[in-house]
Amino acid sequence: RITALHAVEILDSRARPTLAVTLTTADGVRVRAGVPSGASTGTREAVELRDGDPARYHGQGVRTAVGHVNGEIAEALTGRGYASLADVDRALIDLDGTPAKSRLGANALVGVSLAAARAEALLAGREPWQHLAAIAGTAPRLPVPHFNVVNGGAHAANDLDFQEFMLAPLGAPGLAEAVRAGAEVYARLKARLAAEGHTTGLGDEGGFAPAVDSAETVLRLLVEAIADAGYTPGRDGVAIALDPAASEFRHADDGLYHVAGDALTSDRLIDRYEEIVDRFPVWSIEDGLAEDDWDGWVRLTERLGPRVQVMGDDIFVTDPEIIAGAIERKVGDSALIKVNQIGTVTETLDAMRVCRAGGYPQMVSHRSGETDDTFIADLAVGAGCGQLKSGAPARGERVAKYNRLIEIAAADPALAYGLAPR
Ligand code: PGA
Ligand code: ZN
Repeated sequence: RITALHAVEILDSRARPTLAVTLTTADGVRVRAGVPSGASTGTREAVELRDGDPARYHGQGVRTAVGHVNGEIAEALTGRGYASLADVDRALIDLDGTPAKSRLGANALVGVSLAAARAEALLAGREPWQHLAAIAGTAPRLPVPHFNVVNGGAHAANDLDFQEFMLAPLGAPGLAEAVRAGAEVYARLKARLAAEGHTTGLGDEGGFAPAVDSAETVLRLLVEAIADAGYTPGRDGVAIALDPAASEFRHADDGLYHVAGDALTSDRLIDRYEEIVDRFPVWSIEDGLAEDDWDGWVRLTERLGPRVQVMGDDIFVTDPEIIAGAIERKVGDSALIKVNQIGTVTETLDAMRVCRAGGYPQMVSHRSGETDDTFIADLAVGAGCGQLKSGAPARGERVAKYNRLIEIAAADPALAYGLAPR
């Protein structure tokens, strides 16, 4: 039974307001959750409620969403007994009553849902990852961390069109070694960048944000840094994953993808990816095309699917129905998973179940605006999906998730590490 629910407006990692929610139960369990927030958001994501009052935080305040938690949601949920997290989430969805959670705000709902998931785990005497595995019926495993070490697009002020360049230690023998590889390559990359006269300031996710516009230059530097650190570039050692976040550089007026001065059709951009995969040890490409370019996505998946993971983020928005439609049309072959894209933990687990049933691997993801909340680390482990991205191995809000993985790994040495078996 929930006895108290309370939200406050706090700051996220980009100095923008977000919510922290505290939930108390009759048994004296008290838990807290922080709500993440994206910058390159999909248009079909659940709606993040912002106050729009220009006098506070340039309109970005979340007092309305906070008020909904402390008012309507607290009134509806406290004093009542819930049999399960699914019941709490159902109550939240029904109370909001809109398809995109725009009335109460997905940011309000996510905070309550995350806190409820944590409370339920505590009451069951389990770690969150153990509890999530129990309710999802999954085999837990430690995910391959994907370290976003060079930031572009909407996450940095440079001219790099591709948003994320990630290190994936696929060949690491375990989680702790994977984190070590990420940190060691990150340090060598910093040295390489400095040696070539680039700035080593950081973007929103803790990756370097050098003033370059060429993805190929960044990829060359990454391969060199991997080797400098003593690892093998590629799937036996440290591979590379990309998130171009192509919705952000497809222009509405001409329908073309604008990359480093070129204006490309979907097929020419796919050619460009093919050249990249020929030359560099890239194993996964997320959002290679825009969220509304479904026909292009079919061809992208046909052409690159045999060689790399073709992952959908903005195009799927963690929505079980959209993912089911994508699986039917063979759009992408894997899905990024963000709790706040859909709004509750239960619907997130539904999306992951749909993925598993359709043979789509999943990568659990942070947002570019984050808090110190580490729930996504537990989600990735509990769901056993084998992949997690939480930014660079730098900046507290990013590292918190990786450190949580290290602690889970240390506490349970029997947990397997690596991609989920197919
Ligand atoms: P976002 O970026 O959190 O700014 O949406 C993350 C991503 O595109 O994967
Ligand atoms: Zn993305």
